[in-house]
Amino acid sequence: MDFETLSIHGGEPPDAETGAVRQPLHMAVTYKLPPFGIKLFEALNLENDQAAHVYTRWSNPTLRALEKRLALLEDAESAVTFASGMAAVSALFFTLLSGGDHVIASEVCYAGTVELLGQHMPRFAVQTSLVDTSDPDQVRRALRPNTRLIYVETPANPVLRIADIRTLAAIAHEAGVPLVVDSTFATPALQKPIALGADYVIHSLTKYLNGHGDALGGVILGKAEGVQRIRREMLVHLGGALSPFNAWLIQRGLETLHMRMQKHCENALQIARFLENHPRVERVFYPGLESHPHHELAKTQMSAFGGMIALRLKGGMGAAITLAEKVKVFTYATSLGHPTSLLFYYPYDLYVDAMPFYTPTHKQRIRQWTGDGLVRISVGLESADDLIADLDQALRGRTLKGLVGPAVYQMMKRKTA
Ligand SMILES: Cc1ncc(COP(=O)(O)O)c(C=O)c1O
Repeated sequence: MDFETLSIHGGEPPDAETGAVRQPLHMAVTYKLPPFGIKLFEALNLENDQAAHVYTRWSNPTLRALEKRLALLEDAESAVTFASGMAAVSALFFTLLSGGDHVIASEVCYAGTVELLGQHMPRFAVQTSLVDTSDPDQVRRALRPNTRLIYVETPANPVLRIADIRTLAAIAHEAGVPLVVDSTFATPALQKPIALGADYVIHSLTKYLNGHGDALGGVILGKAEGVQRIRREMLVHLGGALSPFNAWLIQRGLETLHMRMQKHCENALQIARFLENHPRVERVFYPGLESHPHHELAKTQMSAFGGMIALRLKGGMGAAITLAEKVKVFTYATSLGHPTSLLFYYPYDLYVDAMPFYTPTHKQRIRQWTGDGLVRISVGLESADDLIADLDQALRGRTLKGLVGPAVYQMMKRKTA
């Protein structure tokens, strides 16, 4: 079946008992167990993803329906859902890594992930080499005898670097370790990491897959055995289970993923081209632009280039403050993949320079992309013309806060130093 059809019909058939055409929502925590015998042991030992339900932290019919559909969309054998993207990321690390192990990861990826690796995993004696994963040689050079995992985000949040999934999968497999790809920015509508050689795919379901900005969620997809191990060991023990209500919302959102991604991509390309020619904009990063350093690579592994844009403004932080103040259709907010267009500013000193796990080499490499600060735009589903008009008036605007904000920021920084 084609992607559009699978996103609506994939996985569980409609409710056999009532004939309801939509998946019912099962808000139940515990389940009547099978009678003593093989089915009971299969369920209690969480032997496979078909076993009878025991308790919702282990599995639930609404979650299972979503997991089956996600696995079909991602070309994966199996999927396990979590309460958030970060619950999925942490469950993966805590299942696959032990004290004394080493991980190679994208130096620029979602702040929660890089902070977990850089600040917390060392407490459990897990060491991380943060490298520019858009350069396969850096990944190769970082390999150690105790490397257990290569973890990449592509496109990477927030700078939109692209990593070559095929080449990194070959490097990982030669070293006998799995390649994990956080594909949140692309979604399975635009990029299929498993088909390109990755072993596990992670998504924050909170973003495009739900697509409506009303439910947190996360998922890990991959081979059945590995996914079941993550479920048995870390979904059950760390406990970050997805709420069935959120699963039901996400399943509903998934049905329009294909159409939404088309519109996000069309809007983003139009806006990126507009921004590239704007007098107040210094640099635009969008993988669909010919000027993006990894545009040619992006074309080989993405069918379109997503709804995320990063840009540097000629007026620096003052201009970013004004932009956030002046926008009317956009909202100044974090997150992404919602119908509503959002934008957020990352000052380099706060998000990069202040991070204790970045070396001067990391900082210098990242600065080449971010400059003093980067505006990240999540292009929504509104009319591209309205979004462009909104950005244009906001970029040309002047505000008092934009004028004095950078000096106040420096004073606040000195006070808290
Ligand atoms: C690429 C990426 N991965 C993971 C996460 C974490 O997801 P969640 O907010 O659902 O925990 C985010 C959140 O922004 C993200 O952008």
